[in-house]
Amino acid sequence: MDYKKYLAQKIKIDGISEDEICATIALPPNSEMGDYALPCFKFAKILRKSPVAIAEELKNTYITDDIISEVSAINGYLNFKVNKGGLADSVLKRILSDGEGYGSSDIGSGKTICIDYSSVNVAKPFHIGHLSTTVIGGALYKIYKFLGYNVVGINHLGDYGTQFGKLISAYKRWGDREQVQKGGIHAINDLYVRFNNEADEQMESEAREYFRLIESGDKQANELFEWFKELTLSYVKEIYKKLNITFDSYAGERFYTDKMQPVIDELRKKNLLVESDGAQIVDLEQYGMSPCLILRSDGASLYATRDLAAACYRKKTYDFHKCLYVVAYQQNLHFKQVFKVLELMGKEWAKDLVHVAYGMVSLEDGAMSTRKGKVVWLEEVINKCVEKAYAIIDEKNPDLENKENTANLVGLGAVIFGALYNNKIKDIVFSYDKVLSFEGETSVYVQYTCARANSVLAKSDKEETIPKNYTPNAQEFEVIKALAAFPETVKDAAEKYEPSYIARFAVDLAQKYNKFYIDCKILAAEGDAKAFRLALTRATLQTLKNALTLLGIGVPEKM
Ligand code: ARG
Repeated sequence: MDYKKYLAQKIKIDGISEDEICATIALPPNSEMGDYALPCFKFAKILRKSPVAIAEELKNTYITDDIISEVSAINGYLNFKVNKGGLADSVLKRILSDGEGYGSSDIGSGKTICIDYSSVNVAKPFHIGHLSTTVIGGALYKIYKFLGYNVVGINHLGDYGTQFGKLISAYKRWGDREQVQKGGIHAINDLYVRFNNEADEQMESEAREYFRLIESGDKQANELFEWFKELTLSYVKEIYKKLNITFDSYAGERFYTDKMQPVIDELRKKNLLVESDGAQIVDLEQYGMSPCLILRSDGASLYATRDLAAACYRKKTYDFHKCLYVVAYQQNLHFKQVFKVLELMGKEWAKDLVHVAYGMVSLEDGAMSTRKGKVVWLEEVINKCVEKAYAIIDEKNPDLENKENTANLVGLGAVIFGALYNNKIKDIVFSYDKVLSFEGETSVYVQYTCARANSVLAKSDKEETIPKNYTPNAQEFEVIKALAAFPETVKDAAEKYEPSYIARFAVDLAQKYNKFYIDCKILAAEGDAKAFRLALTRATLQTLKNALTLLGIGVPEKM
């Protein structure tokens, strides 16, 4: 049962919706005051009354029942104490019966969400800068599915542009088929870097000619291009597999080659295109933005042109409820322009396009400086995390079976969680030691808590049963309340596009469980207390697993 919702239904405030009330209800840090609280200062302005007066009035109209055992008004807060036994019973029952489905819902049924994420560039490094888009997008994908939405994961490949002309030129000059086939993306990238270092005017013009050949459908140029693309994709797909990331479409920028003209025609028809220095633009000055470039003076299309075509295509093909773009905040202006242009074109669905922006990731030693020409490949970061995880596990528990598998789950989890734990818009500094700490706010800590719960359950010989009429003690009840919050947390994460809510939830639940574990005997307890604690342990394990799964992180049995 959803307690916030239950409370919100019963609190009636004129002019304020049930949803708003529900969203305002909070968990007080100190449970002596109450288990849930409504901070009334949020409504003071609308109701033109003091928070203290509002809380007092609400208290007098609220009637306790077998779920809410006490209502009080303190300093402008309306506090509720719930019937602990009743809450514990309903939460545990639900988790044990829902299992892997605990926290899921069907609120999204019949609606489609498109998520454009990771969107790698063909023949360019897949580097640590792509970590956030990949794991945030990957988590949102799973979260929306869990909520019953139909989800379309789109990798909007960067596979269009003059760089492919350069690449062909470099390959023709220095490349070797076998070597490139073997070296894959690294070999391609080397060729590209070499071209940029050594190219003179003649090579540049040759590159432009090759690009023109790709564009005009030349067979050989296109075969080379497709080959480079294949090599890039087979490389990134290996990494996606490790990170539990999936896509439903790899329609990249090139896919829109023949879909831009109708958009340009429409822009022209709607009198939105303006000529400026020979280029075609949409003037956005009155909206406080620089113009959106549609065609260069040589007639070439731009990144924005392809995004306009892509948005129209997605609407037509998927009829999305929302289309998310998980892209770094550096592209804020780009998306604001594209969304605005679509709005000016009269696309009422432009309001359903969302730029899910995130901050930068850098490494502790400042290694990610593209200016110095040093790029940190994501693969390196993953490998290093797994290696370090192995060393830590080997030291802590040398006799553990299957150490490699555990190190994989721990190391990959640390990479993902490290990029997800903070509010997504923050810039983060990635530290191997931090993300792999057993004590910090890490996936390792959560996984370790799961292993602990597993080991408790393995030592018990009985199947868990929930005792009747058991009133949980303070530590147990903290765990119950945390468990009860999971379904709402998943919904909030989807609504705010914040997988970090789920990461934080997992750490919070793990901390509360560990406090309970240290303070209360489980296996050595007796009767109802033992039964309850085992059920609580099972429910915690299940909920932590569900949370980590939504982030793409696996859970080892033992650690
Ligand atoms: N490939 C682009 C980049 O690396 C990201 C593409 C994002 N998606 C989009 N529809 N523009 O910057």
